[in-house]
Amino acid sequence: MINHEIKIAFEEYSAVEELNNKDHTLCLEAAKALKGSHSPYSNFSVGAALRLKSGRIIYGSNQENVAYPSGLCAERVALFNWGANYSEDPIEAIAVTAHTDKFIIEKPITPCGSCLQVMAEYEKKQAQPIRIMLYCQKGTVWITTGVESFLPFMFFEDRLVSV
Ligand code: THU
Repeated sequence: MINHEIKIAFEEYSAVEELNNKDHTLCLEAAKALKGSHSPYSNFSVGAALRLKSGRIIYGSNQENVAYPSGLCAERVALFNWGANYSEDPIEAIAVTAHTDKFIIEKPITPCGSCLQVMAEYEKKQAQPIRIMLYCQKGTVWITTGVESFLPFMFFEDRLVSV
């Protein structure tokens, strides 16, 4: 029997103002994306903003549906928009934030496993890691570069890639 141990690493900042200009701006752009949220069932809005190499910023927000599984998280709305329309322009960073009137969000929300797996796919596609910034409007920001820290057991199988 072998015991394995995996360590993950991420940075924590106590306020968005501690970030460099580009990262600070992207976090504020994620907050702007909240207004596009369609979340009448959870009343929990999530906003995501991607910064591309060209400087272009693209947005996503959670889109819920009365047939619950038909909805989609903010991160994948933004990421699939990139995949469909901007994939020649690599993703440098994604910022994610959330808001609800129901309670105070005390710490950054972390993307669900499906969103992390989609990020992993696009990191492979563009052959460069994505900086992930999770921004809690109460203050705290968590940052890591590369999805592996948040999803060390992402699924990938080179032999399934035919191109
Ligand atoms: N949600 C996201 O958009 N991103 C996440 O990382 C976690 C959850 C959405 C899905 C649903 O619309 C609402 O938040 C509550 O789960």
